[in-house]
Amino acid sequence: MSLEFRPMLVEDLDWVSETEQQIYPFPWSRTNFADSLSAGYSSWIMQLDGEVAGYAVLMLVMDEAHLLNISIKSSLQGRGLGSLLLDHLCLKAAGFGATQMFLEVRSSNEAGLRLYDKWGFARIGRRKAYYPAEQGREDAIVMRRML
Ligand SMILES: CC(C)(COP(=O)(O)OP(=O)(O)OC[C@H]1O[C@@H](n2cnc3c(N)ncnc32)[C@H](O)[C@@H]1OP(=O)(O)O)[C@@H](O)C(=O)NCCC(=O)NCCS
Repeated sequence: MSLEFRPMLVEDLDWVSETEQQIYPFPWSRTNFADSLSAGYSSWIMQLDGEVAGYAVLMLVMDEAHLLNISIKSSLQGRGLGSLLLDHLCLKAAGFGATQMFLEVRSSNEAGLRLYDKWGFARIGRRKAYYPAEQGREDAIVMRRML
């Protein structure tokens, strides 16, 4: 198995936005990803045996890293790839001088919460009714990990 991480390119946006529409009920748009690239956010593609398997967007502000998106293609979820991608992001963020990473996750996102708990993220807050949901709104759990 060969695993590779490379910066996201404009050429990746079709695949990334199509994958995003498949895995989230309230996905980012293609424009959201294009804007992230234009803004210079640290945006990554993970390739498994030469095939695109996942992606992530990280915003670095001073000594803080904010994880804005981390996603694994649905057919490849639950095999440890999300953990490997998060490991890569923590290393990159620390390399850029970040000392802590923040993220928000839907309170119903079991896979996300499990991944972040496992990686030592602490639950530091809750934003009430932060996300749109199928029925009304849903809370976000705010998490932080020292790098
Ligand atoms: C969240 C996500 C990035 C995790 O990546 P992954 O490759 O599926 O996760 P891993 O295989 O590395 O597993 C990480 C942990 O989550 C658990 N997990 C994975 N899928 C799960 C699921 N559907 N339900 C509950 N737990 C799950 C795993 O069991 C593992 O914990 P364990 O080692 O204690 O067993 C991926 O599932 C995904 O892209 N989901 C859709 C998008 C999303 O929700 N992104 C996060 C937004 S904050």
